[in-house]
Amino acid sequence: MGEAHRVALVTGASRGLGAVIAGVLAARRYDLVIGARDAGSLGLVAESLSSRGATVVPVNGDVTDASVRARLVHAARDLGGMNLLVNNASELGGVGPLTSFDVVRFGRVFRVNVGAPIALIQLAMPLLAERRGLIVNITSDAAHGAYPGWGPYGASKAALELLTRTLAAELAGHGVSAVLVDPGDMRTRMHQEAYPMEDISDRPLPEVTVPFWHWLLDQDPEEIRGERFAAQREDARWLQQA
Ligand SMILES: NC(=O)c1ccc[n+]([C@@H]2O[C@H](COP(=O)([O-])OP(=O)(O)OC[C@H]3O[C@@H](n4cnc5c(N)ncnc54)[C@H](OP(=O)(O)O)[C@@H]3O)[C@@H](O)[C@H]2O)c1
Repeated sequence: MGEAHRVALVTGASRGLGAVIAGVLAARRYDLVIGARDAGSLGLVAESLSSRGATVVPVNGDVTDASVRARLVHAARDLGGMNLLVNNASELGGVGPLTSFDVVRFGRVFRVNVGAPIALIQLAMPLLAERRGLIVNITSDAAHGAYPGWGPYGASKAALELLTRTLAAELAGHGVSAVLVDPGDMRTRMHQEAYPMEDISDRPLPEVTVPFWHWLLDQDPEEIRGERFAAQREDARWLQQA
């Protein structure tokens, strides 16, 4: 199958990292399904990519909503299938010490950052299996560092990491691969939420990860099964190659 017929689904693609990943995929002639809640900004990304020749279907709605996940996967099926699923949409869930964190909010953070990606994977599995596809779950160094104030977010990413590695092991021999990508610090809305009082203009824009995405998309999914990549690692294979 030529790359012109590949289909990718990217959640959280209305801005930040997700929009950059969608741009890389469009440049590589993937057909795209992109998701986010705000229809206006998602539509603008779709319009911009379409004007450059890509086939893009925007599906707006919250990833925690089962009907939205169904629309995302149906849209990919209508495009012919799915080669790549990028679970990028995520919420910080506020910043503050655990001693005063409203524990009810754990539920929301885990539903968005862990439950929705796994539910989307379940729904997409038949399409991914048909094309020996790749699942990319976006994580964070907060999954490992015990950063004060980010406990629930970090815990949700740590859970996503364990589940992704488990999934990668479970799917061995089934033709679908799964990896983790930590994009590193980037100047985005979420990063500003994480540092509410700070000037974050010294952080790189998410475009800094573009060489990594091109490298990743050139890999055989089977060869990278279960790996965790840090997209901004300075000694990384994708930068040496560039
Ligand atoms: N920025 C960093 O420094 C950094 C560092 C490490 C990891 N990351 C990870 O990188 C990924 C992208 O983050 P970003 O920095 O690009 O954030 P961002 O600019 O805030 O973008 C988040 C995207 O996800 C969408 N989204 C959020 N909650 C959603 C929901 N419940 N349902 C559907 N869509 C939702 C947003 O659109 P709507 O609001 O319209 O829904 C937006 O398109 C995340 O997984 C994040 O954890 C970021």
